[in-house]
Amino acid sequence: MPGGERGKAHDERGEACAFPIRQSVGQTLAVKPRGRFLVLEGIDGSGKSEQARRLAAWLEASGHRVVSTREPTDGPYGRRYRAWARGEFEATPDAVLELFLEDRREHLKRVVMPALERVEIVVCDRYKDSTLAYQAAQGLDPARLRALFDAPEFPTPDLVLWLRVPVATALARLGPHATERFERAEFLERVDAEYARLGLEAIDASGSVEAVERAIRARVARAIR
Ligand code: TYD
Repeated sequence: MPGGERGKAHDERGEACAFPIRQSVGQTLAVKPRGRFLVLEGIDGSGKSEQARRLAAWLEASGHRVVSTREPTDGPYGRRYRAWARGEFEATPDAVLELFLEDRREHLKRVVMPALERVEIVVCDRYKDSTLAYQAAQGLDPARLRALFDAPEFPTPDLVLWLRVPVATALARLGPHATERFERAEFLERVDAEYARLGLEAIDASGSVEAVERAIRARVARAIR
C-alpha cells in the first residue's frame, strides 16, 4: 500500500464495506465504497480557484487522497475554448457549448471517474453548473441545457459549493486580468442570475479568504462524513 495515508483515507468511507448492511430478510448487501465528487462554482473572480487549492490541501492534510482538477481542462477542447475566449476566432454559442461538452466527456473519462473508482476525493473547479449558468447567459435555452445533463454520462456531484460574490467585487478582484469575453459586468450579472436559478445553496464569498474557507470546510465535513 503506497503510504499509510491511503489506508487512513479509505477506512473512513470503507466502513460501509467492512460492516455490510444486513437486510431484514437476512440477505447481505455489499455497499461499494466510493469516492466523493466535490465541485466549486461561481462567476469569474469569485475566488473559487484559490478556495479549491485550499480545500484540496486541507483534505490531503486530513489524510484523504485527493485529485484536484478543473474545467475547462488543458486538453484540446479546453484549449480551443480558451483561444475563443481570448478573441482568436468567432463561434456560435452552440459551438462553444460543444467545446465544453467534449472537454467534460474527456475529463470525466480520463480524470474524474478513475479517481472516484479509486475511492479518492475529486475537487473540481467548475463542472456542469458552469454550463447551465454561462451558456444560458449566452442565450441558450436553460431547459435544453438541463436535459443534456440528465444523461448518466454526466454524474451528479456529491456537493456543489457555489461561491457567490457581487459582480463588482469579482471584477475588482480580476483587475486588469479581466480580458476574456465572459469577464464583463453585464454578462457576469446574467451568469449570477442563472446560478441563482439552479437551486444551489450559496456560500457568501465576499468575506475574507479565511472566512470563506471556514464556511467551505464546514459544508465539506458534512458531505464526506
Ligand atoms: P475559469 O475558471 O475562469 O478558468 P481560467 O482561469 O482558465 O480562465 O473558466 C474559464 C471560463 O469558462 C469562465 O469564464 C467560465 C467559462 N465556462 C463556461 O462558460 N462553461 C463551462 O461549462 C465551463 C466549465 C466554463
